[in-house]
Amino acid sequence: MLTGIQPSGTLHIGNYFGSIKPSLEMCSTHSPSFLMIVGLHALTTIKDPTLLKKHIFDIAATYLACGMDPEKTILFEQSHISAHAELAWVLSCFSPMGLLERAHSFKDKKAKGIETSVGLFTYPILMAADILLYDIDMVPVGKDQKQHLEMTRDIAEKFNHTYQKNIFVLPQSIISESTGVVPGIDGQKMSKSYGNTIPLFGDEKEIKKRVMQIVTDSKGVEEAKDPNTCNVFAMCRLFLTEAELQDLEIFYTKGGMGYGHAKTILWESMQKTFAPMWEKKRELDQKPDFVQDVLKEGTKKANSIAQKKLEQVFLAVGLL
Ligand code: ADP
Ligand code: TRP
Repeated sequence: MLTGIQPSGTLHIGNYFGSIKPSLEMCSTHSPSFLMIVGLHALTTIKDPTLLKKHIFDIAATYLACGMDPEKTILFEQSHISAHAELAWVLSCFSPMGLLERAHSFKDKKAKGIETSVGLFTYPILMAADILLYDIDMVPVGKDQKQHLEMTRDIAEKFNHTYQKNIFVLPQSIISESTGVVPGIDGQKMSKSYGNTIPLFGDEKEIKKRVMQIVTDSKGVEEAKDPNTCNVFAMCRLFLTEAELQDLEIFYTKGGMGYGHAKTILWESMQKTFAPMWEKKRELDQKPDFVQDVLKEGTKKANSIAQKKLEQVFLAVGLL
């Protein structure tokens, strides 16, 4: 399996439950497994070099803090492997304009008035190259990436068919339905673009402050409350056990408990879940050389696999 994450912002708990946690679970049961930091993709949005470097380091440290085993999983930085950009060019010659013009993510960004570039337009081709270089069967991603995986398969099929050779394995997207969409502090999808996130790492006081800022209605302590429409309760579902949730539900429906109290319960269980990872991340932040070494080692391994695949491609098309 392989998945990629963009170093384009501070990671939040939506990223953790929607991507990091399910990917790490798959890494522990699938071999080989690849976790890729896609610096080239992030360049479509991040134009600040210091920030880009920081985000790349933070993602590597995050995977390690959340339990990635560097002996089993290959963690690497896409931009340091030239085969990604090279294969992306080859694949661009097999990607119909119409296919890219139909991409939801490009159309959405354009509709929102985000400045578009050729890089943003051809982004799905680079993503296809990221996957096809490694003979990948399974790609765990969020729902928003499903179409990009379909495009990857279309491009790979067109290439294989042109040369009558099975050069590329057709990958499948694995969409984690169980987590669904983690709500932000305002109840919309948690997303760095909406400014409604709870960060996964950082100053604990700041994280707690965000929990306390979760938007609720204005029902008083004694009033009965609806757990099914409450943002605090929705987030509790991610952290509390079934039994704890049932107890909380009784408090909600009976009344007698204020939202402040519910937020404290949420914060305490969040602390319990994340404390070991926070501790590990603090340790790793003090050992940047260790994190860089894991990344370098992973990139070296990935590079040798990618290079072999690129040679196969060049041979097939007549460039070698
Ligand atoms: P953002 O929306 O903050 O920009 P990204 O698009 O960079 O996040 O998402 C990175 C990964 O995290 C993707 O796999 C995405 O599906 C997942 N993800 C992001 N936000 C959420 C959320 N609120 N709930 C579940 N998964 C999420
Ligand atoms: N497009 C993905 C996202 O925005 C990131 C990504 C790039 C990716 N290349 C990939 C994900 C390859 C999976 C596999 O979330």
